[in-house]
Amino acid sequence: MKAAILGGTKGMGRSLARVLAERGDEVFLLGRDPEDLERSAQDLVPRSPQRYLVRHAACDLKRVESFGPALDAAAEALGKLDAVIVTAGLYHGQEELEEDTALALELLQVNFSNTIAFCEEARRRLLAGGGGTLAVFSSVAGDRGRKPVVIYGASKAGLSAYLEGLDHKYRADGLVTLCVKPGFVKTGMTAGLKPPPFAGDPDDVARIVARAIDAKKPLVYAPGIWRFVMLVIKNLPRFVMRKIGF
Ligand SMILES: NC(=O)c1ccc[n+]([C@@H]2O[C@H](COP(=O)([O-])OP(=O)(O)OC[C@H]3O[C@@H](n4cnc5c(N)ncnc54)[C@H](OP(=O)(O)O)[C@@H]3O)[C@@H](O)[C@H]2O)c1
Repeated sequence: MKAAILGGTKGMGRSLARVLAERGDEVFLLGRDPEDLERSAQDLVPRSPQRYLVRHAACDLKRVESFGPALDAAAEALGKLDAVIVTAGLYHGQEELEEDTALALELLQVNFSNTIAFCEEARRRLLAGGGGTLAVFSSVAGDRGRKPVVIYGASKAGLSAYLEGLDHKYRADGLVTLCVKPGFVKTGMTAGLKPPPFAGDPDDVARIVARAIDAKKPLVYAPGIWRFVMLVIKNLPRFVMRKIGF
């Protein structure tokens, strides 16, 4: 597989890039920090059985104009695109977002509207090449309106709805859209937060996502236990949701 990955320098994206490189896939990194990109590329090369050169291009989810050129650079370097993966995203706590409207708007733009704009650029290129996989990290936070993640959850709910619609619309044309819903996973994003009982590990998530890509799944919860946790949460009556802090 030849895959471009936005967000592969940190957390679950870094783990996924490593899993793909280690199993012989050719990876191209997209991100906003050139030094981080180069460091991550150097980390991936010795993991690749074929010692594939890992190239990279600048792509910032805050800058829509960077999306097309970054994906074109990936397609040119790889020869073709089989998969585009988006793990990049932004998190801030609810209290902070309630205090700072500019920050809330930035988070909504990065996680929702600009991620969709990036996916649209990827969709056009994958379809033009005969199809492929678009795998995007949303969150369990989008499954139900919840007190601690009112705004972050809304950004991910919108993203999940978009990804489901895209899969329905373009599956017959050869585009598989995978919506990844991580539960709480221990990465830089969650550093400083108290881990809940089912907190996951980024390497485990990466293996689950790689398998879901291979199986052409439209949706995967990672770690898998979160599918059942959210099934319960989604079915709790509103009066219970108003009382609990989850
Ligand atoms: N960790 C969790 O518990 C959890 C749970 C549910 C869902 N998620 C979602 O899963 C995804 C991965 O999370 P993670 O925990 O692995 O995050 P992470 O460790 O914080 O890594 C986030 C990645 O996104 C990149 N990024 C952030 N803003 C960007 C921008 N404007 N343009 C380009 N790249 C940008 C970061 O690059 P820089 O280094 O340049 O910032 C980094 O490579 C996110 O979408 C997150 O919302 C996470």
